[in-house]
This record gives sequence, C-alpha cells and structure tokens, in this order.
Amino acid sequence: MNRTKIAGIGMYVPENVVTNDDLTKIMDTSDAWIQERTGIRERRYAKRFEDTTTTMGVEAAKIAMENAGVKTADIDFIIFATLSPDYYFPGCGVLLQRMMGMKEIGALDIRNQCSGFIYALSVADQFIKTGMYKNILLVAAETHSYGLDFTTRGRNVSVIFGDGAGAVVLQPTTKDDQGILSTHLHSDGDSAELLSMPNPGFHAGRFWKEKKPATPSQLYGGLFITPDLIKEEDIYPYMDGQAVFKKAVIKFPEVINEALNANHLKASDIRLLIPHQANLRISQFVQQQMHLREDQVYNNIQKYGNTTAASVPIALYEAWKDRKVKEGDLICLAAFGSGFTWASALLKW
Ligand code: ACO
Repeated sequence: MNRTKIAGIGMYVPENVVTNDDLTKIMDTSDAWIQERTGIRERRYAKRFEDTTTTMGVEAAKIAMENAGVKTADIDFIIFATLSPDYYFPGCGVLLQRMMGMKEIGALDIRNQCSGFIYALSVADQFIKTGMYKNILLVAAETHSYGLDFTTRGRNVSVIFGDGAGAVVLQPTTKDDQGILSTHLHSDGDSAELLSMPNPGFHAGRFWKEKKPATPSQLYGGLFITPDLIKEEDIYPYMDGQAVFKKAVIKFPEVINEALNANHLKASDIRLLIPHQANLRISQFVQQQMHLREDQVYNNIQKYGNTTAASVPIALYEAWKDRKVKEGDLICLAAFGSGFTWASALLKW
C-alpha cells in the first residue's frame, strides 16, 4: 500500500505585527505577564476587509503547490481546517475552491480546533493510502483577531491568539523510508465548554450538560437562540486556562508515546517534535516529560501567538525552511485543544 508524503508546504501570515506593548494600550495587561505565562512576544492580525481565513489559506496553498510542483488542475481534493471560518456556513473549503478556480472537486471542512491539522492529515492519509486521491490540498487557517474580546475582561484569552495559515500538498509515495507512519486521534467531550465559543450555536449541549431541560418555547418557538441564552461574554471564546494546561501536559506526552509505541520507536529517534503552538510553557513541559533536547522541539509561538489549526503547518514550514527538517528525518506532530481533542502523527520526511 502507498504511504502519504508531504510533497509541498506553505504558510502565510498577515503583515500587521501586534506586539504585547500594543495590547497594553487597549487592555490591562503587560509584556512581562504575557511573556512569562505564554512565551508570546508578538502575533499577526489580519488586515480588516482584506485578509480572511480563506484568502490567507489561498496564499499558503499557492506556496505549498509551487513547492510541490503541482498546478490547480492537479489537485483532486481539498480539506480545510479552521475554527474561524469566513461564514458560519458554507465552510472555507468551497470558498477556497472558488477563489483558486479549481475544478468541481470535493471540499471537506474539518472543525477540530487546535487538533484540526492533524485530524485533517489523518483523513487525507486514508484517501491517499486507498488510492482514491493523488494530490490533496490541505489548508489550515485562522482569523482570530476578528472575534476576540479586546477588553480587560477577555485578556486571558485574547493575548494568546494570532492569525495565519499553513498548507500542504499530500501525495502517495512508494518509498519505504518516507511518508506518514501513523496518526492517532482522540477526544473527550466531557470538558467541551472549558475551551469553547457557544455562539452562534444551538446550545443543546449546554442543556444536556446542566441536566436542565429546555423550555418548550426554547425548543420549538421559532429561533432556538432566545435572548436569555445569549450572554454577552458567550460571543467570545471562553477558556479555563488552568484546566486546559493540566490536561494538555498529560495528553501531549500520552499521544506522542502512543505513536512511538505503535511504530516501535523511542523519543530519542525523533528528529523534530512539532507541537501545536498552544503556549511555550506547555511545549517546554512536554519537552521535559519526553526527555527531549531543546533542539528536538520546534517553537515559533513567540512570533505568531497561537494560530490554532494553522500552528502546526506554520511551524513545520518554518522548520523546513530553516533546514531543520531533512529527507529521512523522523518528525512527530502533536496537538491538544478544544473539545477536548488531541492527536499525533509520525512521519518520515
Ligand atoms: N494580563 C495580565 N493579567 C492577566 C492576564 C493578562 N493577559 N490574563 C489573566 N490575568 C490575570 C488574572 O486576571 C488573574 O488575576 P487575579 O489574580 O488578580 O485574579 C491572574 O492573572 C492569574 O490568572 P490565571 O487565569 O489564574 O492565570 P494563569 O497563571 O493560569 O495563566 C494562562 C493563564 C496563561 C492562560 C494559563 O492558565 C495557561 O497557560 N493555560 C494554558 C492554556 C493555554 O495555553 N491555552 C492556549 C490556547 S488553547 C490551546 O491551544 C490548547
């Protein structure tokens, strides 16, 4: 059976650099607090009315396709991972298909937040291994800056996130020492609300969680979302930072070890671990837990903040561009995020 290789990779971030000091002008925060807790120095914000999640995805896709040496007509399937789509529906996949003038190929949207890229990679891997598709364009992009609470109330979340896009072109390979060795995907919906944005949504999950039945008018009275359901803070992302931290530092090592064990490999075999850029402190904790050297873990959250689904391909692109990833190297991708969902992929470059 074929394996799946990354034939080309690209990234795009908007020009607009927003430093921690810039944020201190609009909310009560400080460069010291942000750097100490998250490692972030600056992030990029999309240019209003110019950059969208799809347009940034298109820019990253063009670079990935050029690096893979493929043209628009060669792409036979699109997968788009994002939590910040241009529209509530339809998804960004079809918008990218239209913008890039691709023929009437399938376009699939993946909504797995920080784990989105690895979930999408796993889906693409199945299509390639079975021979169904030969050139899959996988794009992961986020525009967080349009939807954050920039008042002091939202500072624990808004200082963390940034905008950007990454993309890969996936193709079959018959080489033994190349391609995706395995992917492992997990979820635990028990903590769904601990890292969430309830609106726009239908809140059925909340009634279930609170074990409080919805009133008939909420259920059947036209619009399900009634004013009493929409609290102002619910239109912004919510995060219980400490709960996320505690779970992330357990699940990252667990899912990386699962991948290593499945392939009879050891942590010392990893040339580069590219963790989802959630928070530099989480990455450092994982590095220690896994007994990895500093040069075995790639971090660029300092420059871009947390770009959710886009963070792994952006980091992978920069590592590749910096020649930290070479043919035959064992690369481990790992992510943890909202859902909670977590995932890993092990691949030979
Ligand atoms: N600037 C200044 N002060 C702040 C800020 C800010 N941006 N945000 C919160 N604070 C204050 C709080 O109001 C609180 O003040 P108080 O003591 O007067 O009440 C104090 O700092 C401590 O707040 P905590 O929320 O307890 O801060 P904590 O030390 O837990 O750090 C953080 C918050 C950085 C979010 C931490 O919990 C963390 O690293 N969590 C991991 C979550 C994460 O990294 N998520 C990334 C996105 S999700 C993902 O990708 C998986």
